[in-house]
Amino acid sequence: MTAIGLGIVGCGGIANVHADAAMRSGFQLVTCWDSQAERAHALASKHGAAASSSLESLLRHPRVDAVTVAVPTDAHAYCAEAVLASNRHLLLEKPMALTVAECDSICAAAGRSKGRLQMGLVCRSSPAAQHVMGLVRSGSVGPIDFIQARCTRRRGIPGLGGWFTTRSRSGGGCMIDVGVHLIDLALHLAGWPRVLRVSACTASRFGSPIEAYRSPEMWGGPPKVDGTFDVEDSAIALLRCDGGLSIEVDVAWAANIPSGAARDGLLLRGAKAGVHFEIFGAEVRTVADRDGELLDERSPVLLGQSMSGWDAAWDAQYRRFGDVVRGVSEPAATAADGLELQRIIAAIYESAALGRETEVR
Ligand SMILES: NC(=O)c1ccc[n+]([C@@H]2O[C@H](COP(=O)([O-])OP(=O)(O)OC[C@H]3O[C@@H](n4cnc5c(N)ncnc54)[C@H](O)[C@@H]3O)[C@@H](O)[C@H]2O)c1
Repeated sequence: MTAIGLGIVGCGGIANVHADAAMRSGFQLVTCWDSQAERAHALASKHGAAASSSLESLLRHPRVDAVTVAVPTDAHAYCAEAVLASNRHLLLEKPMALTVAECDSICAAAGRSKGRLQMGLVCRSSPAAQHVMGLVRSGSVGPIDFIQARCTRRRGIPGLGGWFTTRSRSGGGCMIDVGVHLIDLALHLAGWPRVLRVSACTASRFGSPIEAYRSPEMWGGPPKVDGTFDVEDSAIALLRCDGGLSIEVDVAWAANIPSGAARDGLLLRGAKAGVHFEIFGAEVRTVADRDGELLDERSPVLLGQSMSGWDAAWDAQYRRFGDVVRGVSEPAATAADGLELQRIIAAIYESAALGRETEVR
């Protein structure tokens, strides 16, 4: 099969993960562009590609069939709309954009384009998530009453002082950055019931003053002490869905949690079975009532794979995107999904600001 020609826009931390996964999954990185030219040159030279000097020149490249957009969130709408206007297929990193209005505009551009848009919601593609989807579809979990979704880092504020922690560039903190993955996965597994109302609280405690923050784990580079931190570093939200499902989302970039006291992952409490899994983990745990006895089981999900759950998820995301480009599959996560997630997150921030439950509009 001929490799699909890929262009990457934004050559920072996650672009390197994209390029590696794409190259393992039927794509050839042809060219890439970053507003910092040295980053584009570094990524291009690693994969035998060419660095483009602008977004326009990347989109003029005749061998570019598809484009990944992995720039800061405030540049998503501009880059995504340019890619779609060029009729290229688009893999757009999460969150879709800064605001619901920008998402509407991207959806409209997708509607006019011959290119297809797949959202970069990679957690859906993890082996554990796909195993759980199989359990849900088989009916063995039964109707789900509650989903608890947690990702709490003890110290892991990304790029403190940079775009991640500047609301005007990121749209928010840990909820829009990490919570978007949790909400997406919970709704995906539950079959996308409509979220009617949300109640949320946020805290902003560890990122300021920036010079006081200490952490060995620093996605996005060391703290910029003269930068901005005006977003939340912890958030909890309760989502009430049509049909009765409730989803609790617990997310933190930084929090004082005793080691092991809060287990990351998703817990589905179904009428027939309960399921817990870490998103990129190697096993799925279930419990079911068998003739009055609670039977706990662990199912390995990485059997026969030499790669981690994280790498397997990224490769699966790109294999699916390849099928979308070839016209044999629908996007794993659609523009409509990206828009709906943005509406929910906007309602979460509104609820936290007002101190009461709000409607998702
Ligand atoms: N799916 C995931 O698990 C995951 C993980 C991390 C980041 N992300 C998403 O990926 C995107 C990028 O995140 P990152 O961690 O790679 O950030 P980053 O800061 O490491 O990289 C962003 C890159 O974009 C470049 N850039 C900034 N503005 C630009 C513009 N207007 N035009 C072109 N290039 C521009 C920067 O120079 C930088 O190299 C964000 O949307 C983020 O939410 C997703």
